[in-house]
Amino acid sequence: MENKKYSRKEFVSFLGKVGLGVAISPSFLMSCGSNNSAIISEALSTDDINKLKKLVLEGLVSSDKDDLLLTKGLDYHTLIKWNDKISDTDTFGFNCDFTCFIPFDDKYPEDGLLWVNHEYVHPLFVSNYAFGNPNQERTIEQVDKEMYNVGGSIVRIRQENGKWKIVHNDPHNRRITAKTPIHLNWDTPIKEKTTVIGTHSNCSGGITPWKTFLTCEENYDQFYGETERLNDGSTYHRPSAFGWENFYKYPPEHYGWVVEIDPKNGAVQKHVALGRFAHECCTLFQLKDKRVVAYSGDDSNDQHLYKFVSSKPNSLKEGTLYVADTNNGKWIALDWANQPLLKKAFENQTEVLIRAREAAKLLGATELNRPEDIEIDPITGSVFVSLTNNKPKGDFHGSILKIEEENNEHDSLNFSASVYMAGGGENGFSCPDNLAFDLSGNLWMTTDMSGSVMNKEEWPYMAFKNNSLFVIPRIGKDAGKVIRVANAPRDAEFTGPWFSPDGKTLFLSVQHPGEQTIDLKNPTSLWPFDKDNIPKPSVVAITGDLIEKMNNLHVIEKP
Ligand code: FEO
Ligand code: CA
Ligand code: CA
Repeated sequence: MENKKYSRKEFVSFLGKVGLGVAISPSFLMSCGSNNSAIISEALSTDDINKLKKLVLEGLVSSDKDDLLLTKGLDYHTLIKWNDKISDTDTFGFNCDFTCFIPFDDKYPEDGLLWVNHEYVHPLFVSNYAFGNPNQERTIEQVDKEMYNVGGSIVRIRQENGKWKIVHNDPHNRRITAKTPIHLNWDTPIKEKTTVIGTHSNCSGGITPWKTFLTCEENYDQFYGETERLNDGSTYHRPSAFGWENFYKYPPEHYGWVVEIDPKNGAVQKHVALGRFAHECCTLFQLKDKRVVAYSGDDSNDQHLYKFVSSKPNSLKEGTLYVADTNNGKWIALDWANQPLLKKAFENQTEVLIRAREAAKLLGATELNRPEDIEIDPITGSVFVSLTNNKPKGDFHGSILKIEEENNEHDSLNFSASVYMAGGGENGFSCPDNLAFDLSGNLWMTTDMSGSVMNKEEWPYMAFKNNSLFVIPRIGKDAGKVIRVANAPRDAEFTGPWFSPDGKTLFLSVQHPGEQTIDLKNPTSLWPFDKDNIPKPSVVAITGDLIEKMNNLHVIEKP
């Protein structure tokens, strides 16, 4: 088996996590049984070693305080909050998740476009609707407000005197919502449509080598429900939690896709070839011949890990969708034309893609414990997948799965899978969700214990208190340790960690602070403590001496 070295070019400068420069010994990988030592080449310079010796990384203890707390050496400022104006006509949506920053010009990384996902809404805050109140009739105006507050935002941001600021009314600033018409990138109409209405449930996402944003529709069934099948082949509509289908008759099949947005002009399309399921994220790798590999997890108990491999350069339409059999290390093709079992059960490839979960199970894909975010290690090429938990199966704390593609070829059909790190008391974290590698190859991780179980005595999460941000340093005295560097406000989770191109800022969403609120006059959180006295999902910019030192070890070259 060839042990391949990665060239700078292969390592995708588009990731904002860039190409391989001076690789160093990744002790945290070696301690986990990685055999990638042959990839590791030059040693650190004396200067780098001295910097490392001086680096003091003090971890925080867990906290149940209603505040965003940072470890020594880190600072934050709030970039944008829910309902802030981004232009004279538009406001920033609710429950921010994935963030992604693309500078206009790589030479000026302090000015560019920020994409932010808006996953779902808390109706009490957004539309003043209380679920379960028998005396309150739901109105179309309320649903319209909710539809406006999901999707995503494009905002121009600029750094001035060390602080990031929104450029109000910039012509690029726009909203994509549950009402935006979106073209399907597919030749066959779905439920008679080639253009569908809106995107929602936008959880995590990704970026393409051609510098567009990807936003992923995750728990789509919460807004329009789902088409379910009985054993006799008949179908019925499973109603949604939000009940939007009582006002707008859009079919569930129009949601659950990976959506691409061109930041420059706001053009949007949904990529049917990548399959329909509760997409957490979509992480792309560009092969030498410019074909792309797109990894995506289906974040639901006992669902699967997928990858799409394109057959043409930079295509998210032409190619094959595979699903992982992690027991045998095989990628299984969800290919109707060449899989007799699929031919028997489905009418055509479009139907296989719409009902990807059923097709995956039919072909023996491995059931996983809620695959969430996926990141590719910029030094070794290993693919890290958060498996957040699976409570019915007794996995309360989750783990991080490591996929090593055969020969480090991302279009390979064989791989090995291992547990990189388990959640729980020993490692000090529970329910891993978003992942991000910084410019030094350190791994940053957010956690997502749900509000209904966090800080509740009857659940095994008490010791972890509020959700947090952790870093796993790659080198130095703390290599391989899980260090808590930020605590979230009450009921919130951190989402969407994304490093600025110079590595000096970590953009981070603070999603659903005060989510357990049932009375507007008595919210469970007041973060970010503005004049309105209600909690507001917001994006913050984390900066400071510590982040600069950690990102400045020249392990990976800057773009
Ligand atoms: Fe929206 Fe799987 O988190
Ligand atoms: Ca997530
Ligand atoms: Ca989550």
